[in-house]
Amino acid sequence: MNIFETLESSSPTIPERYLEMDNKELSERVQQVKVQMGTRLFLPGHHYQKDEVIEFADVRGDSLKLAQISASQHEAEAIVFCGVHFMAETADILTRDDQKVYLPDMRAGCTMADMANFTQTEKAWERLMKDFDDTILPLTYVNSTAAIKAFVGKHGGATVTSSNAKQMIQWAFTQKERILFLPDQHLGRNTAYDLGISLDDMAVWDPIKEELVYEGDFDDVKVILWKGHCSVHENFTVANVWQVREQNPDMNIIVHPECRREVVALSDDAGSTNHIIKTIEQSPPGSSWAIGTEMNLVNRIIKEHPDQHIISLNPNMCPCLTMNRIDLPHLAWSLESIAQGEPTNLIEVDKEIAIDAEQALQRMLERI
Ligand code: 13P
Ligand code: SF4
Repeated sequence: MNIFETLESSSPTIPERYLEMDNKELSERVQQVKVQMGTRLFLPGHHYQKDEVIEFADVRGDSLKLAQISASQHEAEAIVFCGVHFMAETADILTRDDQKVYLPDMRAGCTMADMANFTQTEKAWERLMKDFDDTILPLTYVNSTAAIKAFVGKHGGATVTSSNAKQMIQWAFTQKERILFLPDQHLGRNTAYDLGISLDDMAVWDPIKEELVYEGDFDDVKVILWKGHCSVHENFTVANVWQVREQNPDMNIIVHPECRREVVALSDDAGSTNHIIKTIEQSPPGSSWAIGTEMNLVNRIIKEHPDQHIISLNPNMCPCLTMNRIDLPHLAWSLESIAQGEPTNLIEVDKEIAIDAEQALQRMLERI
């Protein structure tokens, strides 16, 4: 189910009273439920969450760490995921049936995940099987719906995150001659390129036109990239890089691999949110950095490192709007509704889908 289907089928709206409370009262309410529920409650928070939310997270992480932590949460009865829909689905798949996962606001989707739906993927696969026979292994970025993970799991493939995409693509080539990489063309292209695969050996599947974009001989195709992208990271451009290079020649540029190939190629470094955080932490006072990733995280890094000169690679950058849906009023509402025994916004992946999706996730978790 993608986020729009989820929204149509359920999704009660937040009671007005939460929107009228000030942050002090909301924070006290959140804290009160956390104390009351203790280890029966677990709050994972993605690095892109707002400060007002992330301060309550029991653990902060990138999508890999949050998937691993969810899988190892044996005590929690309720997991309130401060992140986006696909992350909460992953937590639901990796936890026991009696553990319940909630998303404080069902509108917290991921536009990239919604760029590959199940019907489109089945159609693409049918056509690709005609052109390439049984030579393709599907891989999907965790930023995808549970249905896409299930499709990939069923066909022998695995999920990847931005921290382990290299290892997973290397593994995929031990299984089959080619890969289909869903749904982020940029992460797929950047990672395959780093592994020495020529851009000339990469084709693009356009799910809207239902066509394979490739000019050479099909025998040479090694990687088929799904034509999806992150609308936040596509906002970092080559012009932004040139501007930083011109105005601050000594500044290092570090970006997330969801950025376009040209931007990654011109940058000094690229990696997951965790890699970006660690790199800045390990660099000496006085270092200067332009960061190409989501704004809540960049602003937090700036605050945490006053001894360094840090800016956003794009000065007009906005936060990820769907991540930003999780705010203090929704968090307080979600926690209080759980504590009162009337929980809202339960994330429950269909059983059959969950079985296949778990295979794709476990193939990744076993290898990293
Ligand atoms: P990370 O895996 O680096 O946390 O990235 C997740 C994400 O959604 C980036 O847009
Ligand atoms: Fe999805 Fe991009 Fe937001 Fe990450 S930053 S959650 S990929 S829309």
